[in-house]
Amino acid sequence: MQGTLGTADRSQSQFTTHPQPQAAVPAFEAAFSAGIGAVNGSALRDMLRMAQVPGLVNFGGGLPAPELFPMDRIAQASAQALDRYGWKAVQYGTTEGFLPLREWLAENTCPGAGRVTPEHIQIMTGGQQSLDLVAKIFIDPGDTILVETPTYMGAVQSFVPYRPNFAAVPTDEHGIDMDALAEVLRDLAAQGRTPKFIYTIPNFQNPTGRTLSLERREKLLDLTSQYGVFVVEDDPYGQLRFSGDPIPSLAELMLRRTGGDPDRSHVLYCSSFSKTLAPGLRDAWVMAARPITEKLVLAKQGADMHTPTLNQMIVTELLPLLPEQTEKLRQSYATRADHMLAVLDRELPQGVTHTVPEGGMFLWLTLPTGVNTTAMLPRAVERKVAYMIGECFYALGGGQNTMRLSFSSAGLEDIDRGVAALAQTIRGELARL
Ligand SMILES: Cc1ncc(COP(=O)(O)O)c(C=O)c1O
Repeated sequence: MQGTLGTADRSQSQFTTHPQPQAAVPAFEAAFSAGIGAVNGSALRDMLRMAQVPGLVNFGGGLPAPELFPMDRIAQASAQALDRYGWKAVQYGTTEGFLPLREWLAENTCPGAGRVTPEHIQIMTGGQQSLDLVAKIFIDPGDTILVETPTYMGAVQSFVPYRPNFAAVPTDEHGIDMDALAEVLRDLAAQGRTPKFIYTIPNFQNPTGRTLSLERREKLLDLTSQYGVFVVEDDPYGQLRFSGDPIPSLAELMLRRTGGDPDRSHVLYCSSFSKTLAPGLRDAWVMAARPITEKLVLAKQGADMHTPTLNQMIVTELLPLLPEQTEKLRQSYATRADHMLAVLDRELPQGVTHTVPEGGMFLWLTLPTGVNTTAMLPRAVERKVAYMIGECFYALGGGQNTMRLSFSSAGLEDIDRGVAALAQTIRGELARL
């Protein structure tokens, strides 16, 4: 059996007859790119590890409520998709995405606001991929990009490997501070720098739960048009409004300004089915002017060729369910948010403030200066409660006295127990100051 790879006589094969040199450990760290070296994912890793502690109430994770996933309908939609499309459901598909899904999105993303066609819609493998590929098509090393502060840390994680310079724009209870934005843009212009884009989450922002007012949306469009800065509008939570009046998206407001022509808009609208159907389906989309979607196609070809065909077909089968499903989510998240707000108001010591979200999955706590929520986290976990530390949402540092709480997947009793434990932990920290 000389020279065969059969397991029985492997020890005698030609591959083991010569002494093997000891393999040196590769120089891993030296080999990695500066881009990936700059990514800091430790907060998320710590969070996931802590989520394993038995009996812990975890307000940190930010996951949709699993008991609200429409499991029967997903099973039905999977069978229907396979039945309807047969082998096409598992064949390679086009990079742009499944046409019936893009047609639906073209009609529904900015309903009535413009002449959006499927060519303006790019299907993505989760909203996270939208952020990565937007960064890939726009950012050269050293380019400036603007982010609101605090902002979604997953976006920063997507942008960092492309080596931009971040300029942070402060926010208040109504979202981005427009005077501050005007000042940042003016200062950068004086240095001859035009930011490539501003990244913003106008509805029920992750992490703060805040919403950008209509007046500020208009102002944001004025300023970015004036300075030639693209707008990346990230809106995964927009359908989850449970109080207050809906506000048109930046994309929609911009379409009104262009007379309905998406090819004259500088807004890229990103959204996802992760928070309305189920995140594991990994189906999302970007709506943008054709010169942008054409580049996104090229970027996506090199990333994953296309979003899984069967998943796109399943989502398409589920589209008629969306109104009922989003209503169910809105009601459930409203109940949880109301409860958490009431318990926070009852339990939290003086000097701790929180936002009051009108939708989405998060609210934001600001503790007195001097309390460090990162240092406090292990003490909170000892009391069986966890949160997401605030500082990881600051692209340029800061926010040590802040934290994000998610109410989307906690039961009401867990909220009682978790908030009481959190309040007790904070009292302990205040006593140390
Ligand atoms: C603001 C924001 N953008 C994008 C994403 C990524 O979503 P997806 O699950 O669609 O990749 C998230 C997820 O939490 C998010 O909060």
